[in-house]
Amino acid sequence: MGDLEVTTRSRPGRNDPCWCGSGQKYKKCHLDADARGEGGGPPPPHARPALRPGLVSPRRAVPAAIPRPDYAATGRPRAQGKDVKTAEELARLRRACQAAARVLRVTGEAVRVGITTDALDELAHAETIRLGGYPSPLNYRGYPKSLCTSVNEVICHGIPDNRPLEDGDIVNLDVTVFLDGMHGDCSATFLVGEVDPEGRRLVEAARECLAKGIAAVRPGRPISEIGKAIEAHASKHGYGVVRAYCGHGIGESFHTALQIPHHHDPSMKRLMEPGMTFTVEPMITEGSWEDAIWNDGWTAVTRDGKRSAQFEHTLAVTDRGAEILTVEG
Ligand code: MF3
Ligand code: CO
Ligand code: CO
Repeated sequence: MGDLEVTTRSRPGRNDPCWCGSGQKYKKCHLDADARGEGGGPPPPHARPALRPGLVSPRRAVPAAIPRPDYAATGRPRAQGKDVKTAEELARLRRACQAAARVLRVTGEAVRVGITTDALDELAHAETIRLGGYPSPLNYRGYPKSLCTSVNEVICHGIPDNRPLEDGDIVNLDVTVFLDGMHGDCSATFLVGEVDPEGRRLVEAARECLAKGIAAVRPGRPISEIGKAIEAHASKHGYGVVRAYCGHGIGESFHTALQIPHHHDPSMKRLMEPGMTFTVEPMITEGSWEDAIWNDGWTAVTRDGKRSAQFEHTLAVTDRGAEILTVEG
């Protein structure tokens, strides 16, 4: 990527709102990072133009015959449900999770240079419906699409739009399916074309961080052990762990009150129990863990503009460890 792309970025005035939508003044937000990318000192090895919001297509319809979660019409989730599932609930959750894993695979197979994130949303939407499911993100707290597509410095909750994926991008696809009365949630980060070695290392480290988090799951242990294992691995690589977004209890509700931090938070003393179901979904950053939100109210980005990668599974705590539910049946 040449200097040209970097220098064509139009920059706000020092006291104008930052282009990232954080609501902060430019000088308090991205000015320094931008300056570093534009010749103030050695250029970063992979200076990219900042991602900008694109155009979002009209809302996709779900056939009336598909059972919907409680928020589908209103945008407001109500269901709660227990964090420890019965065998019957687990069987239903397994089916929702298997469908989500399939939708993620099918959508991920379509990732290539030039495809828009909106086209990926269309694919995920269609495959979910084909399996008899409702795409959980659609109208969840007003979210406009069926899939989250988080490119480069986007941490999570990127909204699919008309931006074609570019050679060298990394993109997380986050799929959640509501089926049999349960939500199954998983995500993975994909490489678009030729990604530079640093980007590939980041993505591999994020994959390993999820594996370390899962390996820390065992009944009788405090929930804090999960984030402890993840943070230890990320730190070893010099990477950050995002704090603003956590794993979560899941089942009849997309997100229950149960939180699973991905950094080490010793205050998370609740013990894991067999039958508990939750996600682990660490967001791992090349630089600082600090986040900002675009003024679309959803898109979470790194404050420093460096990249973030994420992988997610839905898990059930077993008698000995964890069962990964978001695998294809
Ligand atoms: N799937 C995301 C998670 O892992 C949540 C997306 S909420 C949405 O928790 F509204 F953006 F879809
Ligand atoms: Co999740
Ligand atoms: Co998710």
